[in-house]
Amino acid sequence: MSVRIIIGAQWGDEGKGKIVDLLAKESRYVVRYQGGANAGHTLKFDDKTIVLHLIPSGMFNGDSRCVIGNGVVVDPIALVEELKEVQEITPNLDNRLFISSSAHVILPYHKVLDMVKEKSRGSDAIGTTGRGIGPAYVSKVSRVGIRMEDLLNEEILEDKIRKNLADINKAMEHVYTEPKLSAAKLLDEIRPAIEIIKPYICNTSELLHDALEDDQSILLEGAQGSLLDVDHGTYPYVTSSSPTAGGACTGSGIPPLAITHSLGITKAYCTRVGNGPFPSELDDEAGKKLAKNGHEFGATTGRPRRCGWLDLVALRYAVRLNGFNELALTKLDVLDDFETVKVCTGYKLDGKEISYFPLNSNEVERLEPIYRSFDGWMSSTRDIRNFDDLPQNALDYIRFIEEYIGVGFTIVSTGPKRTETILR
Ligand code: IMP
Repeated sequence: MSVRIIIGAQWGDEGKGKIVDLLAKESRYVVRYQGGANAGHTLKFDDKTIVLHLIPSGMFNGDSRCVIGNGVVVDPIALVEELKEVQEITPNLDNRLFISSSAHVILPYHKVLDMVKEKSRGSDAIGTTGRGIGPAYVSKVSRVGIRMEDLLNEEILEDKIRKNLADINKAMEHVYTEPKLSAAKLLDEIRPAIEIIKPYICNTSELLHDALEDDQSILLEGAQGSLLDVDHGTYPYVTSSSPTAGGACTGSGIPPLAITHSLGITKAYCTRVGNGPFPSELDDEAGKKLAKNGHEFGATTGRPRRCGWLDLVALRYAVRLNGFNELALTKLDVLDDFETVKVCTGYKLDGKEISYFPLNSNEVERLEPIYRSFDGWMSSTRDIRNFDDLPQNALDYIRFIEEYIGVGFTIVSTGPKRTETILR
């Protein structure tokens, strides 16, 4: 039995979908534990490409039971759109999909609030995905949120929506000077989606506790990344949930001592989408080449991602935060035609050398990266399936990273397809 958390070690988009899909074959359960449809997990198999936003990435490799945990914020309309796509490949979802009755619901007003708040922040905008994530978590912690269980009782749902809108409409009118929202219209908008997802709503905490008792294997699929964590990331340029290891327990109900593996995923370089500090960001030809080779456009919003060299100080911070005892290196092939490859091994902060990742975003903004250069390998790694067959310069690069952060790579991904993977 294993209970493995899969966590992005950077600012998201590390390739978690591919790795979860790969490991799902051996897992009875795959559980999303935080975030919502801001995530975009891309899977490529049998000449198909599918991007999942809410449904766990275990849907297509084997017969894992896919659980949307209590820590996720679920947009019923987005979920139904995704279900349609998924059911083209896997029509029967009986015993395949379970949604926590305690997960919170993203309603259309959360998406409106996300947009008007971003607009009012002006140049301080976070660059959110506009999916209503922050406002939905605000409703949750303010204890006015609507949970999936409320969708099962129209009377309760309507009462809660009307009460919430009474407050929200005051802000719309007087703070944001935006049109007021109508409860009746909103209910009409979401009712068809509710009818479709109702059968999947259940007590997933009990389901997972029973699975633990039966020694079943569980994968906990994180969304976003460690540096976007609301507590440990580059606040306030973060998401509103906890992608890090602790979030996996609160967002699923699985106790910490049940976790057997913590698997971090990092790209062979770095990207970030949205605003906020990014010490090793490149605005030169190398940055453009990373973006081009890596097709670095957001899977959810289509926005171009900012690119830079791998930041080992930030990666070591993520290793410490999550207690990674396994690592996956993704997109190694993106570096295949670089004559020189660099990694950030330290920073200068206001002229002084430091080797830790500062917690204060203003300080992170002022960091000047210190790089170590490696000769590139200038050959394709795409078809390589054995670790030792990698070009010597790629091996030197990988071994330097492992030594710096103190954890080894058990998986190296050299392309987007399931088959383009080295298992070590
Ligand atoms: P939000 O999660 O939509 O509130 O956005 C907050 C920040 O997290 C923004 O910088 C987004 O670009 C970033 N973000 C949210 N979800 C993802 C993701 O799945 N990948 C990468 N960045 C993300």
